[in-house]
Amino acid sequence: MSSTSSSGSSLCRQASIVAIACFIFLSALFFYTSPMISRPPPLPAPKHYLERTYMTNSSLKEDKPILLLWVWPENYRFDPSDCKTIYNIDGCHLTDDRSLYNNTDAVLLFHKAIRLNTLPPSPRPPFQKWIWMNVESPTNTGKKPGLENLFNLTLSYREDSDIPVRLRLTTNKIPDENFEITKKEKLICWVVSNNARRTGVGTRNTYYKELSKYVHIHVYGKAYGTFLDYKDYYPTIASCKFYLSFENSIHKDYITEKLNGPLAVGTVPVVLGPPRKNYEKFVPGDSFIHVNDFPNAKSLAEYLIRLDLDDDAYRRYFNWRRHFSARPHLILKNQEFLLAICTACDYVGRHKEYKEAHDIYKWFFN
Ligand SMILES: *[C@@H]1O[C@H](CO)[C@@H](O)[C@H](O)[C@H]1NC(C)=O
Ligand SMILES: *[C@@H]1O[C@H](CO)[C@@H](O)[C@H](O)[C@H]1NC(C)=O
Ligand SMILES: *[C@@H]1O[C@H](CO)[C@@H](O)[C@H](O)[C@H]1NC(C)=O
Repeated sequence: MSSTSSSGSSLCRQASIVAIACFIFLSALFFYTSPMISRPPPLPAPKHYLERTYMTNSSLKEDKPILLLWVWPENYRFDPSDCKTIYNIDGCHLTDDRSLYNNTDAVLLFHKAIRLNTLPPSPRPPFQKWIWMNVESPTNTGKKPGLENLFNLTLSYREDSDIPVRLRLTTNKIPDENFEITKKEKLICWVVSNNARRTGVGTRNTYYKELSKYVHIHVYGKAYGTFLDYKDYYPTIASCKFYLSFENSIHKDYITEKLNGPLAVGTVPVVLGPPRKNYEKFVPGDSFIHVNDFPNAKSLAEYLIRLDLDDDAYRRYFNWRRHFSARPHLILKNQEFLLAICTACDYVGRHKEYKEAHDIYKWFFN
């Protein structure tokens, strides 16, 4: 029968072949012209996090406070049980189910996504606290009007937030004698993904340019066209004697995973950010080199070159590791806010106090 198709249906068939070919061509075109961003491998499919969102009878009986994620920051979703598996945090019922709103103890509101007309409904239940969540520095935070006096708690990198977010060194009760410096193939490395001027990167770029006049720097990352796959991030940093932990903008306590990466893998961070004293609130003073320790980039370059030839002096930058440990931070895009959200969960599990956060901008931008 198929050999005797009418001319009408064969026309039809030709038309659909053309349509399919077009579709394939356009898809291929789209694929090849998509921006070359390094995509994280897909996360394991969320294990039905909505159903499992702690609304099973047994978990409700545990009487944990409910923490409602009003939106997923940047739409990076993860399984709420990750807080338990990754950080051993299990103090709240973390959910994105807005139908639980009237019973919700705390609502987490991501500053970048807040719109006045999409705020949770008012009046809020009298026991409910709203958390202002912002992990960017003031340079990269928009002052949206109308939010100044809505919140009960602040969450940010600042130590004087109600909920400060930071991966911290931990103490070793038994000194770790087994640390060995990984094999080093390069002197200085730098991974830079963002280089947009408006984000405040002028200072670090100027310093990098000056430093690179005197010593070679291996540069990786989107900003310089040689992107680094996620799986290569830690091995690359580990293969360098020094790593430029240059913050994009300079603010008190704004000391990010750029410092943690090299500490976690056994590389010496060269930091540019707030003053040395501020760093020493978080890590031992002999675990890093601060650009301000030197009058200029040239003398820093000379010092690093000298350390390259002096193994004993270099090794002293690792003495702290006997007594303290650094953990690698999560690097997949979808995990970017996991620590912040889990830290909020931990907080609401421990705190029931009344609290108001007035004038958040006056506090944050000061
Ligand atoms: C929850 O408890 C109610 C009443 O105690 C019961 O009717 C219901 O089947 C339970 N649901 C589940 C999922 O266990
Ligand atoms: C929450 O309570 C308010 C009034 O008390 C009611 O109007 C609203 O429908 C309730 N919302 C949900 C999601 O149950
Ligand atoms: C939360 O803050 C708001 C606004 O500042 C205040 O009206 C409310 O009573 C506070 N609630 C709690 C539970 O702290």
